[in-house]
Amino acid sequence: MRFQDNWSTATLVSTRDLAPGIREFILRPDNHVCAPYAVGSHLKLSVLVGGQPDVRSYSLVGEAEPQGYRIAVRLAEDSRGGSRYLWSLQPGARVDVTSPTSLLQVDWQRPQYCLVAGGIGITPLLGAAQALMRKGADVSLHYAVRSRRDAAYVEELSTLLGERLTVYAADESRRLDLAQLFSGLSGGATVLLCGPMRMLDAARSAWSGCGRAPTDLSYETFGSSGRLAAEPFKVRLRGSREEIIVPRDRSMLDVLNAAGHEVMADCRRGECGVCAIDVVEVEGEIDHRDVFFSAEQKHENRKLCTCVSRAHGVVTVDTLERTDA
Ligand code: FES
Repeated sequence: MRFQDNWSTATLVSTRDLAPGIREFILRPDNHVCAPYAVGSHLKLSVLVGGQPDVRSYSLVGEAEPQGYRIAVRLAEDSRGGSRYLWSLQPGARVDVTSPTSLLQVDWQRPQYCLVAGGIGITPLLGAAQALMRKGADVSLHYAVRSRRDAAYVEELSTLLGERLTVYAADESRRLDLAQLFSGLSGGATVLLCGPMRMLDAARSAWSGCGRAPTDLSYETFGSSGRLAAEPFKVRLRGSREEIIVPRDRSMLDVLNAAGHEVMADCRRGECGVCAIDVVEVEGEIDHRDVFFSAEQKHENRKLCTCVSRAHGVVTVDTLERTDA
């Protein structure tokens, strides 16, 4: 990785189960300083996956608090191992963390803000809701979950937002209709959305269907959510006989780097595009899991973000590494 992160050690102060399969972790950095951070900030954490050091990125929940950094982690069945590792930690455990960083640019001058969360996608939006309420903005939050018992932070959000919060629980037959929601927003409104890939695709389509500017829809996702189930796939490198297997529990980025093919990375969440490499040929199907490329670019399959995207079958890529002649 060529981008410089500012790492320090932190202590896991406490954990709290928020909903089945969702646990909150409070991490206090050794310098005890949790300086204010930007809305949409993430933290990278060092984890051990299969005994090997690895890095995961998590959204910070809420605005900065003196007791430490707050993250919430869903124990994913299809996890590559990061969530399992974190769930194995007990208070007092020591972990390496980076300083918070954010790629999200919020325009604070908008007449209306619509926040949309799907499942664990609520985590970055709690801080956004707090900041917008503090500024007296016209804000509403629409939170879609399978069931109310799966919804984290509902009490805290309800206290903060009152009637500006709407929970859509599928098992109560209450579904979020994005086209209807977006068509009711005022001109100049902006949407911040975080949810699984299917929700993002639906939102982009509903947003453009309402004739809104693409730049007024900001979103992020979680790298584990794709259209296809995670399964091992093969990577061939252009101009080489080498074939590399990407196991179901590792990213293409990590596997390429471990095999000595340096691929740059930064966010590791499919947001910045730094890890994108050229696709030469696909025998099978690419499962683009990033939010960096547009739907058209994903359809063209000319590039993929190696930190989150996967494939079924075989992908031939060009990492643009060149050996000196
Ligand atoms: S490292 Fe940012 S999109 Fe992959």
